[in-house]
Amino acid sequence: MLVVLLLQAAVMLPLKEKDKPIIQKLLAAGCCARCVLRFCCVSVQAAYRQPPEDSVGQDSTDENKSQDTAASQAPEDPPNKRAKLELSMAGAEPEEEAATAVRLKDGNAHVCVVCLGILQELCGSIQALKVSEAVKAGNYEFDTLVLSLSLPAQLCVREHSCWLHVKKEVREKGLVLNKDDVIQVKEAFKWIMQGMVAKELGGVAVVTKVSCTQLATACPDCFKPTKNKQSVFTRMAVVKALEKIPDAKFLKHYPCPPRQPSSSCSPREVQCLHVSVFVAGRYNKFCRSLPQTPWVIDGERRMESSVEELIAAPILSAFRADGFNFSSSGREDVDVRTLGNGRPFAMELLNPHKSRFSKVQMKQLQETINESSDKIKVRDLQIVTREAMGRMKEGEEEKTKSYTALVWTQKTIQREDISFIDNIKDLTLNQKTPLRVLHRRALAVRQRTIHSMSTRFLDSHHFYLGLKTQAGTYIKEFVHGDFGRTNPNLCQLLKTDTDILELDVESVDVDWPPPVPE
Ligand SMILES: *[C@@H]1O[C@H](CO)[C@@H](O)[C@H](O)[C@H]1NC(C)=O
Ligand SMILES: *[C@@H]1O[C@H](CO)[C@@H](O)[C@H](O)[C@H]1NC(C)=O
Ligand SMILES: *[C@@H]1O[C@H](CO)[C@@H](O)[C@H](O)[C@H]1NC(C)=O
Ligand SMILES: [Zn+2]
Repeated sequence: MLVVLLLQAAVMLPLKEKDKPIIQKLLAAGCCARCVLRFCCVSVQAAYRQPPEDSVGQDSTDENKSQDTAASQAPEDPPNKRAKLELSMAGAEPEEEAATAVRLKDGNAHVCVVCLGILQELCGSIQALKVSEAVKAGNYEFDTLVLSLSLPAQLCVREHSCWLHVKKEVREKGLVLNKDDVIQVKEAFKWIMQGMVAKELGGVAVVTKVSCTQLATACPDCFKPTKNKQSVFTRMAVVKALEKIPDAKFLKHYPCPPRQPSSSCSPREVQCLHVSVFVAGRYNKFCRSLPQTPWVIDGERRMESSVEELIAAPILSAFRADGFNFSSSGREDVDVRTLGNGRPFAMELLNPHKSRFSKVQMKQLQETINESSDKIKVRDLQIVTREAMGRMKEGEEEKTKSYTALVWTQKTIQREDISFIDNIKDLTLNQKTPLRVLHRRALAVRQRTIHSMSTRFLDSHHFYLGLKTQAGTYIKEFVHGDFGRTNPNLCQLLKTDTDILELDVESVDVDWPPPVPE
């Protein structure tokens, strides 16, 4: 009985004659060829890329024949490029099982007790084809692809059991010191699959990032493990538990080596996920009955649309994204218009299938948004980085905002009665959290500054009040006083009750995103 390790590799394998007992023990336990390589700590990637039947093993009673077969499998390779290792497996009793273990090549292989078949039939050209087909079906635009594998938690337990099984021998041979030194299933998977998937996709750069939850192979650009958080923790819990449990206790509850599984691990769906793309711009809102975000109370929609939906709909369809996440530099009330240069906003587009847009295409997209509704308009629409998005929120409180309020006065007023307001500069307000937002914000007093004001007389009960304020000033409360919760307020200044009838945001002085030249 002979086992030949025949590997196409420029580097010599670290496998030595002295590893023989370990290999023998692993094969006898029902490990697949690639798992044998893993536990022998073979870090030569090419070794794993060999079809499993080549990497460990030919079972034969004829030494010479076996060698001939092996050699004839890749006659084009110069002999010095091959690392060849012969191991006589003429052991006594494990021989039978060992023979079974290496009979991978006849297509009637058993399922590996450690990797549950993940490094056997689930790791090869068929699976690579499945992955690439899923990627192609998604019709994505991308340059690089990240392969990501989620593994069942059970695998950790089997790995642990197998490690305990050969720990003594492995340590004696000085191959590895810890379980962590063993090549991980996901590592081996990556080494094998990357090239295959890249080839199927016509030379796309494939890199691998691996997480362990369920067995799922996920793709493009980057895998975002937003889903299945619970399962991640489950596996984490398993890993933690395995670290804690003393070997003796583990062995009482779990067979060592692990038992032969009845079937191999079955692959779940291939999920493709493109990294988010970020889009920014500025919006105008010309409507006094449009909330910024969908207005839903007790599960019931109060307004048919919203700023974010009007902006997002054309963008989502252009980027063929699954969803979005909208944010803006402050927000206006449903009845407040945003005029001037508009309010900066940014959107995270989730799983976009199209991600490359020229300047002209972005302009067209902007036009589509502009034409889709009279209620909003968008300018400076552009693709930005995730990092750049942070600039919008940065120092937001320090920025200034300009408003125009239509004010009603109880007392009749003359032009002269209000003109003194034009001379007020840097008025500091103490604003208690407004009653209207008290249900969702903590009670606090904040100080805000009104840098300057200007008045435009309308009639004996109305005037326009222009304000330039620090961001975050509650304008409505400054005008009506909020039952004395804002101090000072316009009622006090004018010595009469005042109320706000209309409010417009004239400018949001945040210098991001940069203007897009026409
Ligand atoms: C294998 O070949 C060598 C010479 O190449 C020969 O001496 C040996 O007897 C052969 N072994 C068997 C089992 O045929
Ligand atoms: C949306 O953005 C917020 C804040 O940046 C983040 O916490 C949240 O996870 C995002 N949601 C999605 C679905 O990405
Ligand atoms: C969209 O509307 C805004 C605001 O009126 C304007 O500045 C911008 O140029 C328009 N863009 C296109 C492409 O129509
Ligand atoms: Zn295996």
